Amino acid sequence: MLKSRILQKMAHKLIAPSMLAADFGNLQRDVEMVNNSDADWFHIDVMDGHFVPNISYGFPVIAAMKKHATKPLDVHLMIEKPERYIEEFAKVGADIITVHHESTVHLHRTLRQIKDAGCKAGIVLNLTTPVSVLEDILPECYMILLKSINPGFGGQKFEDITYNRVKKLRAMIDEQGLDTRIEIDGGVTDKNIKQLVDAGADVFVAGSHVFKSDNQTDTIKRLREIANG
Ligand code: DX5
Ligand code: ZN
Repeated sequence: MLKSRILQKMAHKLIAPSMLAADFGNLQRDVEMVNNSDADWFHIDVMDGHFVPNISYGFPVIAAMKKHATKPLDVHLMIEKPERYIEEFAKVGADIITVHHESTVHLHRTLRQIKDAGCKAGIVLNLTTPVSVLEDILPECYMILLKSINPGFGGQKFEDITYNRVKKLRAMIDEQGLDTRIEIDGGVTDKNIKQLVDAGADVFVAGSHVFKSDNQTDTIKRLREIANG
């Protein structure tokens, strides 16, 4: 238990700008900004208008981003029955694919499908889906994404219940001696990232906090410095 906690504390904390907040009229410019910044991944939000009340973008846009991206694509599927499209997302360049626990009946099979397609596999939990549902499936997961807002839109306010959820999940991971990453997605800023690190999280999605700032590269650099401070 202690060993995995020490390893987790040592592991680098990662920043994944959410491209949902990018300027889609200048997508190549924004992809190149992330390439040249201290960011670690591209967070790619796919929405189908069914699982969440919003529609974002699909395969052609992801393929276009992949063409210019020099860092991994962390693809967050907010779609019903994601098992229908895993191979296609892998083909257009996903490196990590996370699916909502609430969106697929045979979760274990879907995770195996993601790994068979050559991607790292993760599970997403909505704000109040108990972390206890993950107990038996944790060993299959590279990462768990905890939503800190209700899914579907960027720019929402961070929900404070997230802190305790992170602590509970990190304790479960330590209990099993795993090094599963915990990603936080929604309303992350320089004001809450340190408390999230202390709670046990190690990957941070930031959309509006980055793309709505005056200096996006500096904002990313600052987030990474605070997280790894
Ligand atoms: C919406 C997406 C999030 C969102 C984060 O639920 O899953 O990734 O784009 O954007 P911010 O950081 O603005 O909340
Ligand atoms: Zn997301």
